[in-house]
Amino acid sequence: MNLQIEILDDDQWASLVATRFVDRLNTRPDARICLPTGDTPKPLYREMARRADLSAVTIFLLDEFTLPSGHAGRCDAMLKRDLLDLLETPPRRIEALDTLASDGETECRRFETLVDDGGLDLTLLGLGGNGHLGLNEPGSEQDSPTRMVELAASTTESAARYDPEAHPTAGMTLGIRSIMESREVWLLVTGSHKATILRRMVHDPIGPGLPASYLRRHPLLTIFADRSAAADL
Ligand code: PGA
Repeated sequence: MNLQIEILDDDQWASLVATRFVDRLNTRPDARICLPTGDTPKPLYREMARRADLSAVTIFLLDEFTLPSGHAGRCDAMLKRDLLDLLETPPRRIEALDTLASDGETECRRFETLVDDGGLDLTLLGLGGNGHLGLNEPGSEQDSPTRMVELAASTTESAARYDPEAHPTAGMTLGIRSIMESREVWLLVTGSHKATILRRMVHDPIGPGLPASYLRRHPLLTIFADRSAAADL
């Protein structure tokens, strides 16, 4: 096993990960990047908006809740608030899953084809409290496609952190297969509330009970953890 774990001081985590991100963009300004939303990437996105030029980048939004268009708890709304609104120049292209499409299966195939046609240079991921990746909940196989999903009860509950009115029970997610095919993956983990799940992600047997564990099979994974999240490693 060749796990790269970078443990960073809590107050420097965002700035140091942003520095690495800027390095990547210097090498490839037109990178195809998959981005998550949620609490973890927020401070990183603030730093990125200050320091990175995303104008040639294509962003693929990792997942989306089935919530009405414009709902503050949707992932596209979070991406807008936490990153896009802070940028001087918008990214060249943004692609997202439309959970309100009349034919969900066709929509998932459309998005997955866009991702696979050129692939992903870099995928950033948060770590779900239950070990999910995107909305690939426990039970997901390593070759799972982009698809419509039912959410674990704990995911519905934690979505209320993003908006108290949000109680999504379903969504769409990029599949683990496409995540594993991304040329590079960064797993972002911060806060003491993630310490137990990070330890399990690193040490538990690899399998569907803990989807994030599949990442240990990725050839170019870096875990960026702050000291609080890394406390149990
Ligand atoms: P969080 O969510 O960054 O808001 O903790 C992570 C996730 O559920 O994937």
